[in-house]
Amino acid sequence: MQEKFDLLDKKIAEAHLGGGQKRIDAQHKRGKLTARERIHFLLDENSFEELGMLVTHRSTNFGLDNEVYLGDGVVTGYGKINGRLVYVFSQDFTVMGGSLAEAHAEKICRIMDLAMQNGAPVIGLNDSGGARIQEGVVSLGAYADIFYRNTRASGVIPQISAIMGPCAGGAVYSPALTDFIMMVENTSYMFVTGPNVVKTVTHEEVTSEALGGASTHATKSGVTHFTAENDIACLKMIRQLLSYMPQNCEEQAPVLPADQGDHLRAALDTIIPDNPNQPYDMHDVITQVIDADSWFEVHKDYAENIIVGFARLNGQSIGVVANQPAYLAGVLDIKSSNKAARFVRFCDAFNIPLLVFEDVPGFLPGTDQEWNGIISNGAKLLYAFSEATVPRVTVITRKAYGGAYDVMNSKHIGADMNYAWPSAEIAVMGAKGAAEIIFKKEIAEAANPEAKWKEKEAEYAELFANPYSAAQRGYVDEVIRPSDTRLKLIKAFEMLRNKVDSMPRKKHSNMPL
Ligand code: HXC
Repeated sequence: MQEKFDLLDKKIAEAHLGGGQKRIDAQHKRGKLTARERIHFLLDENSFEELGMLVTHRSTNFGLDNEVYLGDGVVTGYGKINGRLVYVFSQDFTVMGGSLAEAHAEKICRIMDLAMQNGAPVIGLNDSGGARIQEGVVSLGAYADIFYRNTRASGVIPQISAIMGPCAGGAVYSPALTDFIMMVENTSYMFVTGPNVVKTVTHEEVTSEALGGASTHATKSGVTHFTAENDIACLKMIRQLLSYMPQNCEEQAPVLPADQGDHLRAALDTIIPDNPNQPYDMHDVITQVIDADSWFEVHKDYAENIIVGFARLNGQSIGVVANQPAYLAGVLDIKSSNKAARFVRFCDAFNIPLLVFEDVPGFLPGTDQEWNGIISNGAKLLYAFSEATVPRVTVITRKAYGGAYDVMNSKHIGADMNYAWPSAEIAVMGAKGAAEIIFKKEIAEAANPEAKWKEKEAEYAELFANPYSAAQRGYVDEVIRPSDTRLKLIKAFEMLRNKVDSMPRKKHSNMPL
């Protein structure tokens, strides 16, 4: 019997060695952890149960029969994060560059199927040279098997992708189909075609890092939601991100013990500048309102005119969407609409209530925006809010102008509660522009047109540059002192906790993609 145990031990040791010590050393030299080390740091201690450790490929093409590694370049299984079940796959770059083919993909599909059946998140740690070239078309089919599952699982279980090495070609589309992407700075990249193909086709000279590194995708494309300075920071971030989410679309996110402190926030009473055109940082409003140290920002460096992120309010997980007056005056444009719409849909899919802070001067004008489709892209945010059935509360801190007023979770599109601060201005447009249009003739004919314009501007401002016209109609439920905001929101979300709402029966919606 001992011999049989020894054989098992030998096989386990062989699997643990992946592509061999030399390649493990090379991985470490690049500042990267191995596939197993990553799982160790990701999961609760000793919680990992590996599946398919002894799986190997079945190919004999191009000498592959002499290159057989136990596990076939991916470590798969299940374990716990903060005591909750998760499924994980971690590609092993030391085995044929973590390249993906039939057996490797079957292992990933297996844990995805288990995750769907058992209602728990899937985390993918990607570090791969892409389709295993020797296995040819089988590799393409294998990728598609994963894409199909990513799509079927979307909105059912949370899916998180960490990019911790290369991720190129069609391989990028699995992470792109998941809910959140994290990239490790300087050691990861994602692109559909690499620098060589780019040079051949467009004659552009570009490095891998500039084309598809973490910073590029965090700031320019918005493909990644987060960046981390190294592997460990990335894995810690995944643990934190999951803490705001339920296990699946049928459950609620975990509620932490409530913060019993004083809910009054005096600092909020002095946050809005006297001059309505002066910016302030909406982060200061958010952090005053939410539970201490609970802020987890998503897409921090992309489309900074809108802020999105997870937080807790009295222990309850919420999604925050907020205009940022400190960046482009908080205007809505194509990128910010897409960023916010995607976040709203995630929160709605996973029963996370939405809190909106609004200070928006309108949509960004210009040919660039119009020609690139601000109409259909802005509509995405309108659509996302309109179809969201989770509890939704808005606080208008200052400007709520034009179509942007409607879009930013107004009562008209289904928000449950709308608060406004006394500094709120809710109108079709700013007083200056409004006066110029409706009093055009009077201004032109006045002895002193400039003075006339000012007079009419003041008249319009008096009527609309406040929250009271909207409050009279019930568009705003209550005008509140800023310092009371936290308390009001805690009560509102508590009141809405058992909200039941649903969309009309349909096959699926047809959002303006
Ligand atoms: C098989 C691969 C491989 C691949 C790397 N390796 N990529 N084996 N299929 N796709 C192997 C190498 O032969 C090498 O084996 C080991 O992995 C490490 O690779 P290196 O080149 O030594 O490492 P490095 O210098 O770090 O370069 C990494 C790399 C490069 C940039 C990823 O290997 C590379 O460009 N690989 C090919 C990428 C590619 O074209 N993939 C197909 C993309 S198309 P040894 O034995 O020496 O350790 C695609 C389509 C998907 O993915 C379509 C889905 C719809």
